[in-house]
Amino acid sequence: MSTLLIRGGHLIDPAAGVDGLKDIVLKDGRVVEVAAPGKAKQAEGAEVIDATGLTVAPGLVDIHVHLREPGQGHKETIATGTAAAAAGGFTAVAAMPNTTPTNDSPEITRWMQAPERGSSVRVFPIGAATRALKGEVLNDYAALKAAGVVAVTDDGHPILKDNIMREVLAQATRNGLSVIQHAEDTRMTQGASMNAGATAFRLGLRGMPPEAEYGLVERDIRLVTELVHAGATKAGHQPHLHVAHTSTAQAVAAVRQARRNGLRVTCEVAPHHFLLTEEHVGCYSTHAKMNPPLRSAADRDAMIQGILDGVVDAIATDHAPHAAQEKEVEFERAPNGITGLETALGLSLRWLHHEWKMPLGRVLSLLSAQPAALLNLKGRGTLAVGSFADVVIFDPKQEWTYQVRDSKSKSRNTPFDGWTMQGKVKWTISEGRVVYRG
Ligand code: DOR
Ligand code: ZN
Repeated sequence: MSTLLIRGGHLIDPAAGVDGLKDIVLKDGRVVEVAAPGKAKQAEGAEVIDATGLTVAPGLVDIHVHLREPGQGHKETIATGTAAAAAGGFTAVAAMPNTTPTNDSPEITRWMQAPERGSSVRVFPIGAATRALKGEVLNDYAALKAAGVVAVTDDGHPILKDNIMREVLAQATRNGLSVIQHAEDTRMTQGASMNAGATAFRLGLRGMPPEAEYGLVERDIRLVTELVHAGATKAGHQPHLHVAHTSTAQAVAAVRQARRNGLRVTCEVAPHHFLLTEEHVGCYSTHAKMNPPLRSAADRDAMIQGILDGVVDAIATDHAPHAAQEKEVEFERAPNGITGLETALGLSLRWLHHEWKMPLGRVLSLLSAQPAALLNLKGRGTLAVGSFADVVIFDPKQEWTYQVRDSKSKSRNTPFDGWTMQGKVKWTISEGRVVYRG
């Protein structure tokens, strides 16, 4: 593999504590040198990328994407989903198991990572916590982990039964795996298609109450507490509960309290939940339909607050592609989900950094170092010497407009078509290979 020199850029690597002009040398898929401008010693014969005036950062890490393979290739394939990831500056994605069939097995886990899938960036499969996501019978976590699974979840479906969730947490902890919960008490959300509130009332739709989310988060935290008290930590591992796509103020508050109590409870927020509210459903727009739903302005503000004050551990997209014909139906019949890989960086930089003045390094950390740490993805989320050569190079000042017709994804279901973003990706490099050129 050739040597690559990234010259003249402003390197921001929060995990390594670097924020300044640096040259970087990439070789054989790894970072081999980070040097003062013009001082790199291992750059001889290297191909040069001129990053003058640009920001150079660790490739972004998205711990919540739906790549739809196996089985739903009409929505997305691993090739198209990871091409969209590369275009968005992501070099690692964690793929949810609600595929067809469900990712219950080492065979499917390996199939998803095989070179034949044509992936542009590294795919880390997440295994199904229970057989066929039914919340009844646990899968074999040791076997899944050995095949490359980085966490377990029934995403899309919650694990409702206390005894099953208790066992999932215990088994995952024993195997050193995180448990990601899609927190939705489906006993309260039957037949509902958006948030319970004024917009649902206006549109005559049944609504999902916020309690359905935070009630389950609180239950899960109780189970983690019990497990810790029962001495599960003596085995060397601490239980890790990660709350997916947090959308309610009370769920963030519960995570905050759990952390104060010393538990390893973490959460992620998706860009749509810190930017949009239930009002964006407008006149039954299915591009504003996802699960969890867009919530109230107070909830949206609590997501922003949680991100700014640090209780939120990661920004994750919940990239959920659906074909046009599936979304172009009555609101209540449309599937949940929107795409997100190509818009997460531009939206985060525009709003969190430029509008709300969050330091650039902190925004990037929420999109790379912190998610990589959550799922223990070694050598990702940093450009320290020895790490994987996963890099995003972007122009932090450039404003641009997202045009979904140019998307690399197979699907077009986004509410952000035509939105102005800030920070244009110029290069994405995955393990030393240029996988996107903007
Ligand atoms: O909006 C969503 N889409 N929420 C989920 O939980 C599942 C996902 C999907 O798979 O489409
Ligand atoms: Zn989910």
